[in-house]
Amino acid sequence: MTGHIKAAPEQRPARPASLPGDPRGRARVGRMIRVDQAGELGATEIYRGQMAVLGDRPCAPLLAEMAAQEAEHLAVFDKMMVARGVRPTALSPVWRIAGFTLGVGSALLGERAAMATTVAVEEVIEEHYQKQLDALGEDEAELRATIAEFRADEIKHRDVAQQYNAETSAEGAPAYEILSRSVKAGARLAIWLAQRV
Ligand SMILES: [Fe+2]
Ligand SMILES: [Fe+2]
Repeated sequence: MTGHIKAAPEQRPARPASLPGDPRGRARVGRMIRVDQAGELGATEIYRGQMAVLGDRPCAPLLAEMAAQEAEHLAVFDKMMVARGVRPTALSPVWRIAGFTLGVGSALLGERAAMATTVAVEEVIEEHYQKQLDALGEDEAELRATIAEFRADEIKHRDVAQQYNAETSAEGAPAYEILSRSVKAGARLAIWLAQRV
């Protein structure tokens, strides 16, 4: 008995990231829902801020439509948190203020900047939801379906905003690249924080 015979790593059975009912797995999924709820809260506030400034402009109906969908997304995650006993992020008030400020700020720069903000935010959210879909197991079929549906909505928002700017001569968008990069960096930081606090 030599005792040094070990299975090569590739011969070991693959271990799933978590098993159904595993508390660590449950906590991990709880954190995902917490981040998503924070993100949707921020999104509803961005549109509320943009509507406050651009409520009588040509882009208002589009903003209202996207805002309504974000409100639906938020309501679903709110319900899910209650059902699963997941606490909301301690930073909820921060997301509200940050979202509203970004909404108002971008809208003050003009319709084009507001839409460019939507494009940037939705690109980050779409990536974020895709990462969650990749990480979630088959035991979370319902959550996966919800996230897949919302991800499709966010992609639509991105496309609608992109198209609006392409098809209209909406004013604004000074330094589009800087705006887009800062918004994306902010959104990524928000996700990072919400995963931890
Ligand atoms: Fe959303
Ligand atoms: Fe969205």
